Amino acid sequence: CGIVGYVGSKKAAPIIVEGLRKLEYRGYDSAGIAIHDGKGIEIVRTLGKLIKLSEALEKRTLDGTTGIGHTRWATHGRPSEVNAHPHSAGPVAVVHNGIIENHVAVRQQLESQGVKFLSDTDTEIVAHLVHRELQKGAKSLFEAVRGALRQVHGAYAIAVLSRDEPDVIVAARYGSPLVVGAGEDEMLCGSDIPALLAHTRDMIFLEDGDIVELRASGVRIETVAGGEKVERRVKRIDWSPVQAERGGYKHFMLKEIHEQPDVVEATLRGRIDLAAGDVHATEMGVTPEFAKELRRVYIVACGTSHHAGIAGRYWIEQLARVPTVVELASEVRYREPIFFPDDLVIAISQSGETADTIAALKAAKAQGAKVLALCNVLDSAIPRLSDGALYTHAGPEIGVASTKAFTTQLAALLLLAVYLGRRRDSLPAERGREILQALWEIPSHMREVLGDADYVHAIAKRLVHAKDVLFLGRGLGFPIALEGALKLKEISYAHAEGYAAGEMKHGPIALIDEALPVIVVCPRDAHYDKTFSNLQEVRAREGQVVAIATKGDESILEIAQHHVWIPKVPDEVGPLLTVLPLQLIAYYVANLKGNDVDQPRNLAKTVTVE
Ligand code: G6P
Repeated sequence: CGIVGYVGSKKAAPIIVEGLRKLEYRGYDSAGIAIHDGKGIEIVRTLGKLIKLSEALEKRTLDGTTGIGHTRWATHGRPSEVNAHPHSAGPVAVVHNGIIENHVAVRQQLESQGVKFLSDTDTEIVAHLVHRELQKGAKSLFEAVRGALRQVHGAYAIAVLSRDEPDVIVAARYGSPLVVGAGEDEMLCGSDIPALLAHTRDMIFLEDGDIVELRASGVRIETVAGGEKVERRVKRIDWSPVQAERGGYKHFMLKEIHEQPDVVEATLRGRIDLAAGDVHATEMGVTPEFAKELRRVYIVACGTSHHAGIAGRYWIEQLARVPTVVELASEVRYREPIFFPDDLVIAISQSGETADTIAALKAAKAQGAKVLALCNVLDSAIPRLSDGALYTHAGPEIGVASTKAFTTQLAALLLLAVYLGRRRDSLPAERGREILQALWEIPSHMREVLGDADYVHAIAKRLVHAKDVLFLGRGLGFPIALEGALKLKEISYAHAEGYAAGEMKHGPIALIDEALPVIVVCPRDAHYDKTFSNLQEVRAREGQVVAIATKGDESILEIAQHHVWIPKVPDEVGPLLTVLPLQLIAYYVANLKGNDVDQPRNLAKTVTVE
């Protein structure tokens, strides 16, 4: 979601809408604005893209000079006008980005005290909590917001207005971005720099746990927890506006690659119970009884989502001991497939709109199977047709080549495998805990791997002229090899093939000579020795080896001309790291070739035709 706030002497509404337009890449299923005109707060909210909000505003006169606005990407509660922000309670209006983890408990508590909720969002509880604090005698909006935030946990950025303080916005962040723009006799805040750049280049970057009071004349920043005053330096930004929309990155794809640690964290947040070594995800609609009784998992998907499905199969079979098949949706739909009522069919789709996946899902439903959607876009066609949904919280993915949707799908599938394993008694609590602990630590390892981007760039330079590239992997490395090849094909237009390393001897080995780069996924996992001997076969035929290997693996250095290290992690979570260098290699090769990375030729982001 995107947030913008303005306090100053100009009309706030057009400034906020313009800022939101720059943030539309963060979400676009509904939008809203709250303006204080000196007497009270007026709220306008619309379903759909921002243009709908602009149209609604043309019919109104909102002259106030203080306001907040929001463009939404739904995470809790379907896209609708009621669920659109701002949310209000008493004199306050709130916009929010992120997830309040304890929203169910807080909501129940507030409802038991007689509070009536109008929306299904987790945001509305913040509005009520702030209102409560004011009723309990908080001296200012600032104090009330602080009091409210002490009662919630999760990841959030919020901005709040109060009828009683016409010239003030209170904002805070924890885990979601929020920037303050310091203008001349005006102050702004926003989820990202581009929203503010038309008004000022002087930015204050808030840190997690900061709360700020914005007035036209200046800001006051303190911590939510301790209440101490803090100083944050003003930084001058010299990005061009286009660069700014991509967060300083040249392409959305590169930005999305670097967002992966954050969005994987968002996908895990609130779903892991480390103490119990278990997973909470009631929204899936897979009851403990059904999880126990189901006889088969049947995954249908296309493209990158299909590759995530293959990794899902390995996890589900290993941890939950359920036979699992993974099928291309376009094949399933035309094949007279057979489904049973005790099948759990999982439709994986970033967009939730892919025509082939929808058709496969309908075929499964028609035969009485239970269908679970694993999607990124809330309330899209696939979740609506399914019995339950497990959402990835990747946020809008703009680059046609999928990256952050893929890693969040992996995270969600591993959660699902643990959930099933625990229900079916095939996964002891202790082992569940180890895997979930490893998964919870993955975002920080992802940051480390992405920090090595320069090294990957050097490898990409050597691959620019390759006409064919072979990707190999075994076990969980196999779907990653397929995904690495797909990425390279999609955006660099080189021919690339992903193969199971063990299958190399049955065909691709004939291709190997000194001109063929072979990129191999070979972390120190259970398959290492076998993959290593395949590499020796490649080297014996002069193939050029690029290894994605575990840091400190000296033996790989004897065989690989190039390598990228990934940290040592438990086998199960390896794919969340090994895919990162492959995404970067594809990106850099395409960029060096001067290709249109975000919109590669002939491809579409969402394929609604068969
Ligand atoms: C298109 C996109 C791919 C995507 C595939 C499946 O081909 O270009 O990036 O993997 O569709 O899309 P879905 O939205 O169902 O995951």
